[in-house]
Amino acid sequence: MGLKISVELTTTPKTKPAIENLSFGKYFTDHMFIMDYDVGAGWHDPRIIPYQPISLDPAAKVFHYGQTVFEGMKAYKTPEGSVLMFRPYKNLQRLNRSNARLSIPSIDEDLVMEALKQLIKVDEDWIPAEQGTSLYIRPFVIATQPTLGVSPSEQYHFIIILSPVGSYYAEGINPVSIYVESEYVRAVTGGVGNAKTGGNYAAGLKAQQEATEKGYSQVLWLDGVHRKYIEEVGSMNVFFKIGGKVITPALNGSILDGVTRDSVIRVLQHWNIEVEEKRISIDELVEAYRKGTLEEAFGTGTAAVISPIGELNWQGDKLTLNDGQTGPISAKVYDFITGMQRGTLEDPFGWILEVDPKI
Ligand code: COI
Repeated sequence: MGLKISVELTTTPKTKPAIENLSFGKYFTDHMFIMDYDVGAGWHDPRIIPYQPISLDPAAKVFHYGQTVFEGMKAYKTPEGSVLMFRPYKNLQRLNRSNARLSIPSIDEDLVMEALKQLIKVDEDWIPAEQGTSLYIRPFVIATQPTLGVSPSEQYHFIIILSPVGSYYAEGINPVSIYVESEYVRAVTGGVGNAKTGGNYAAGLKAQQEATEKGYSQVLWLDGVHRKYIEEVGSMNVFFKIGGKVITPALNGSILDGVTRDSVIRVLQHWNIEVEEKRISIDELVEAYRKGTLEEAFGTGTAAVISPIGELNWQGDKLTLNDGQTGPISAKVYDFITGMQRGTLEDPFGWILEVDPKI
């Protein structure tokens, strides 16, 4: 691995927020990790420092051309007090796939893992232990070279910040209402839809804002070419149970390859529940609803975990799913995955990584 991570501890620790105020991504811990990249030197100077603002030149490329990627991961505290992570290398591999798509140099996954473990250990007191809470981990890369030519930056920062969180949606584990978007699109195959990059989320804000004004939590995106195949929800992948079978849109290059998505598929298969990854149109979905075979729907994501969908609005028609209640598969998968993550249920897959308490 080679690079040694230096540690500077804060002398002014912050007051921790009350658990009931957590919601999502509002509070940040006492420390952060940062390292720099320069052409020639590569990634260098990895360090844990007190959480603080960063200073960037106004010409930094990230401000102008959006050359940036991020990840979302979580650490959990078990009832016995150990700290667990869930499939962290899957996220780090995806980080490097996003880097490759955005012409950002790749990062040594073992170094990032080591940085993560050390950072989490330093801020371990910030990990909430209550059911439904966790420490959200946000690694990200920004292009910092101060030049306005449209070309890959020759300088970057890689940063990890940590945020104690409760549930992503105000609804918690209760079903959310989703607006099926027919005017705006998020991504197209060949674009950057399957990279975790800020521009995908910026592109979704307008639709999200309009959906919020209509009383919906998120939008369900359709594909950008035919405007009919289901892709994903604003911050999660999506699953439907139709006629006893679970279906999720196949990865087509414009959908995010979600770690929770993959985990849900594997868990359902482990339970011998049939899962199919396929192209599914909104018309097929509405037809299944009309025939009474659309049994339940849920979203999956690191931030959202498993989020049951109680209503879909398609061009003004309100499709109420499972009487607006959490469906049995959604509840079972939620209980199983969160149980594994918090160490209260056995992990038959080898997905849980214990953060070494001695580092
Ligand atoms: C996540 O689930 O970690 C995400 O990145 C989704 C969102 C909060 C942007």
